[in-house]
Amino acid sequence: MSETLANLLQETRQFPPPAELAAAANVTAAAYDEAAADRLAFWARQAGRLDWSKEWDEILDWSNPPFAKWFVGGQLNVAYNCLDRHVAAGNGDRVAIHWEGEPGDNRTITYADLLAMTSQAANALTDLGVVAGDRIAIYLPMIPEAAVAMLACARIGATHSVVFGGFSADSLSNRIQDATAKVVITADGGYRRGKPSALKPTVDEAVSRCPSIEHVLVVRRTGQDVAWTDKDLWWHETVETASTEHTAEAFDAEHPLFILYTSGTTAKPKGILHTSGGYLTQVAYTHHAVFDLKPETDVYWCSADIGWVTGHSYIVYGPLANGATQLMYEGTPDTPHRGRFWELIQKHKVTILYTAPTLIRTMMKWGADIPDQYDLSSLRLLGSVGEPINPEAWMWYRENIGRGGCPVVDTWWQTETGAIMISPLPGVTAAKPGSAMRPLPGISADVVDDQAGSVPNGGGGFLVLREPWPSMLRTIWGDDERFVDTYWSRFEGLYFAGDGAKKDDDGDLWLLGRVDDVMLVSGHNISTTEVESALVSHPSVAESAVVGATDPTTGQAIVAFTIPRGSVDTSGEAGEALIAELREHVSKTLGPIAKPRQIMLVAELPKTRSGKIMRRLLRDVAENRSLGDVTTLQDSSVMDLISAGMRSSKSDED
Ligand code: WT7
Repeated sequence: MSETLANLLQETRQFPPPAELAAAANVTAAAYDEAAADRLAFWARQAGRLDWSKEWDEILDWSNPPFAKWFVGGQLNVAYNCLDRHVAAGNGDRVAIHWEGEPGDNRTITYADLLAMTSQAANALTDLGVVAGDRIAIYLPMIPEAAVAMLACARIGATHSVVFGGFSADSLSNRIQDATAKVVITADGGYRRGKPSALKPTVDEAVSRCPSIEHVLVVRRTGQDVAWTDKDLWWHETVETASTEHTAEAFDAEHPLFILYTSGTTAKPKGILHTSGGYLTQVAYTHHAVFDLKPETDVYWCSADIGWVTGHSYIVYGPLANGATQLMYEGTPDTPHRGRFWELIQKHKVTILYTAPTLIRTMMKWGADIPDQYDLSSLRLLGSVGEPINPEAWMWYRENIGRGGCPVVDTWWQTETGAIMISPLPGVTAAKPGSAMRPLPGISADVVDDQAGSVPNGGGGFLVLREPWPSMLRTIWGDDERFVDTYWSRFEGLYFAGDGAKKDDDGDLWLLGRVDDVMLVSGHNISTTEVESALVSHPSVAESAVVGATDPTTGQAIVAFTIPRGSVDTSGEAGEALIAELREHVSKTLGPIAKPRQIMLVAELPKTRSGKIMRRLLRDVAENRSLGDVTTLQDSSVMDLISAGMRSSKSDED
């Protein structure tokens, strides 16, 4: 039988939870047994962390797969659960959001404040004619009004569609049209890299193509000049003058909460639909379990943008449902200096940090002497999400940010899953650097081969989910057929996520990247992630992206684009020597089959706006093709630099 996906990387380091954390952990090992004994009863108990206006009749209706209904017949208000109940419990004075603007301005918003702001926005939207079921587009920078706008929609049963503030007029108008949104909530602009960056002109252009839009609500953030149309209304004149009293009405557990578009690489974006009761149950539970949140004492910070699902689930809904105090930051990590993140952690005594591998590897490139200048002793737990985290980046994060004493939780999930699915439990799991470890209690994930057979320990294949979960996507907005085709047709009865994974000898899970990126070298399926991790394990390397390029002898050959760490000399002969050394290093770490044909030393890698490496573009470069679509690139000049370097480098052959 041929291997589905090779298992090359061996990692033996393992870090048990700190005793103090384990002793007081929110969730213990018993949760796995409880969930295994009765999965639905387990989720019903987690739903009990929320306030329901009406109890459900049935926990799960799976009579028409893959269309799930959770907590059937139950009713709740999502915003009430995130705000009112905390105020009613006497916690109105607790800080919900410590907000830091990029230029250095800041705001402190308590739960009582956030409830008042959300009530005003709910009243204003209702006055504009918005009713339950209407769609509202939100196109805002990372300011508190973004959370307020989302919560106000949830409060009145409108379905929000947040569009990341870096997207173009085309992307925005396509998303507005697909959802036939009635209102857009935006701002004059936001601050990015030290400058005001306009948003309103993009909205004007998009809205001119969107007849469904009746009103544009504009937050004044930067004070820059804006053109004005008869659809436009200032937030401060409309929302901030509305009543701060608003009574939340309960909606069905399956009432649509939000649509979030996910693009994949080039295909038409898919409007991922999430609903209310099951979604809120799982984001609240996972935030409590995976981050071990103690709402009275922790200061939590998720550095994602609210425009991504990470921001929806782990800035807005999960943390607020749990009554957390959190930091929210508007800007980039290097403005006004490369220590900004660590300065913010020191200032607010952040205890839990949730960020992305791309950021960790950037910090590695900049050097550990930057975080060393700050007091990070408040930190007690670190999280990672968005891409596989290379073992060496994991170790760097643990040692240089966590100062050796914080558990690191690598959390696997997707826009489609709505909430974390695979992750260590910080008080239970002895985590291995680079592994997401086990499915959370109540989640059933597996790795299967071509024939949907479960692979044995030590084997690689396709990551699937065997049972429905509360925060699962319900469909693709307006396209049930595409929902079935995209996620449920590759393997009968299983959700296929598109990711490759392996089980190690203990049965712990290692994510190996998108299966579309897997390389076929001399008959072996090799994951880009493993070769990238081998490169990053060399002390001179900060980050690497690996692709398979067509090769006359091996089918595909491995080509690596590698960013050296800040202090490394890469000029002339030193660069050539480093390349030779890195090829040997990969060969020694993973075996000769994984030795890259070619290694390019580069200064940057092409990334999507959410920080994922765009290997498709690098494949074009490696095969000397003209570049495909670059519109989703964060910074398109990166590709010119890489292409220029590629042409001048000699391709060395053995
Ligand atoms: C894809 C989903 C989940 C919120 C942010 C991204 C990759 C995500 C991990 C992880 C390895 C990961 C997968 C997944 N991914 N987390 N911990 N280890 N890969 O959401 O944009 O929907 O992307 O991100 O490939 O399928 P998304």
